[in-house]
Amino acid sequence: MKNLILGLILISTTLISCQQGAESTADQTELAAYSEAHRPQFHFSPKEKWMNDPNGMFYYDGEYHLFYQHYPDSSVWGPMHWGHAVSKDLTHWENLPIALYPDSLGYIFSGSAAVDWNNTSGFGKSGQPPLVAMYTYHDVVKEKAGNNSYQTQGIAWSLDRGRTWTKYDKNPVLPNPGGVRDIRDPKIIWHEVSKQWVVVLAVGDHIEFWGAPDLKKWTKLSEFGKQIGAHGGVWECPDLFPLVVEQTNETKWVLIVNINPGGPNNGSAAQYFVGDFDGKNFKLDAGLAQDVPLGKGVWVDWGKDNYAGVTWSDLPKEDGRRIFIGWMSNWEYANIVPTTIWRNAATLPRTLALAKREEGYRLISQPVKELQTLRGESFQLSKTEISEQLDLTDQLGFSPTLSEMELEFVLPEGSTGSFGVELSNAKGESYRIGYNAAARQFFSDRTHSGNLSFSEKFAPKASIAPRFSKEKTLRMHLFFDVASAELFADGGATVMTEIFFPGENFNQVKLFADGGKAELAGGKVYQLKSIWK
Ligand code: FRU
Repeated sequence: MKNLILGLILISTTLISCQQGAESTADQTELAAYSEAHRPQFHFSPKEKWMNDPNGMFYYDGEYHLFYQHYPDSSVWGPMHWGHAVSKDLTHWENLPIALYPDSLGYIFSGSAAVDWNNTSGFGKSGQPPLVAMYTYHDVVKEKAGNNSYQTQGIAWSLDRGRTWTKYDKNPVLPNPGGVRDIRDPKIIWHEVSKQWVVVLAVGDHIEFWGAPDLKKWTKLSEFGKQIGAHGGVWECPDLFPLVVEQTNETKWVLIVNINPGGPNNGSAAQYFVGDFDGKNFKLDAGLAQDVPLGKGVWVDWGKDNYAGVTWSDLPKEDGRRIFIGWMSNWEYANIVPTTIWRNAATLPRTLALAKREEGYRLISQPVKELQTLRGESFQLSKTEISEQLDLTDQLGFSPTLSEMELEFVLPEGSTGSFGVELSNAKGESYRIGYNAAARQFFSDRTHSGNLSFSEKFAPKASIAPRFSKEKTLRMHLFFDVASAELFADGGATVMTEIFFPGENFNQVKLFADGGKAELAGGKVYQLKSIWK
């Protein structure tokens, strides 16, 4: 009897301690969220599991919506859902429940969403405009059965500020034309002049424009791109929007076409075309046409980690910005980067502008101004000559792990050296980003940045990007966030985004000058705050 009682006591204390154990693991997971090694602190990433492309972004009733390709059961790619987050300031994100689940028509691949202000779809109620999403269905059952018509387009709507979505019962609204393997990533825009919805679709090696009065009855308008631009891979995730050109005040249309592989530093990347769009045809600007012959692209971002980027729709007129966000990874290694709880993040949101240059119209990207609210302590750099290196670690008084830098260099006549910023840690790992004057190229060098073992394609060499500006003053605006660097050079004329995985955080920083002195005209370094704490 005594033994039995003792046994019962033992069993119950074990049970209690197991429960406590379970609770404390849950607490720890809660605590660890957004604090894990390599976790970005001011970029959006899902609390857990897999993410790829940003999807369906629109602004409505004070909120920026961000959906994204998400697999909630694993941190590698799988059956696609639309994850969901909202922000009031493009900086702090609130995670919301999954918006769209796969159904009998297939996985929910990438797409877009917009406010149907005129209720053309008829989904609205009592004067409330519906929010309508259009996405690609990817039917794996058909695919496995060898039926090539496995991608179709469907729609869904919401009447509760995007919190819940109802799929249209007559989906797909745009069936597969017949045996077309790649036809996806619909971007819907309301074209005011022709009073219709236009959808831009990526179809293998070209873009197709389709039109509908109501988001349901689609007819084909035109095609673009078979014989122009970069074609090193399949075309995906397009976007189309007008921008007013800074110097001339004319309106031009920008067509973004993501491509995988075939990027400027290999793998996935976003190219763009500038021209006119009349509601039917996209006509490439003659200046740019010479720039992007078959096989050559101009790029939104020259780094390896900005893919599938598209822009928000329905920003208030008084705001007037065109804001872009990308997926901060590359299909060359996205599934195997060394994180486990979650995998992959979005880039910083960027404001896009168009400039007219000698070489044609050029896209200019700048980090959104809202990011300035994350600035904490700062450090002013005065005019100085850098020979070999200028260590800033002790002077700063804060770690460069989460930081923003605005640096201005002067390029002396005939300068040939390299200069820039180096982050490093006590393990001897380092990351460099800067400018090579002889080559007239920016570079991002993660070849010594820590864990590279997961993929040979991650860092075979430094990535490079051309300098377009001819100014003597060279400006580098940089953001470092634990495991990523974003460079907006020359006011956003050249952009590079790259990720890295050091064995411990980079907490040392220096400016370097190789092969000659560099002239720093001045600068400022800011510590940035985490958005998750
Ligand atoms: C781009 C992409 C899209 C597709 C989605 C699937 O990264 O391949 O073309 O819709 O990802 O997750």
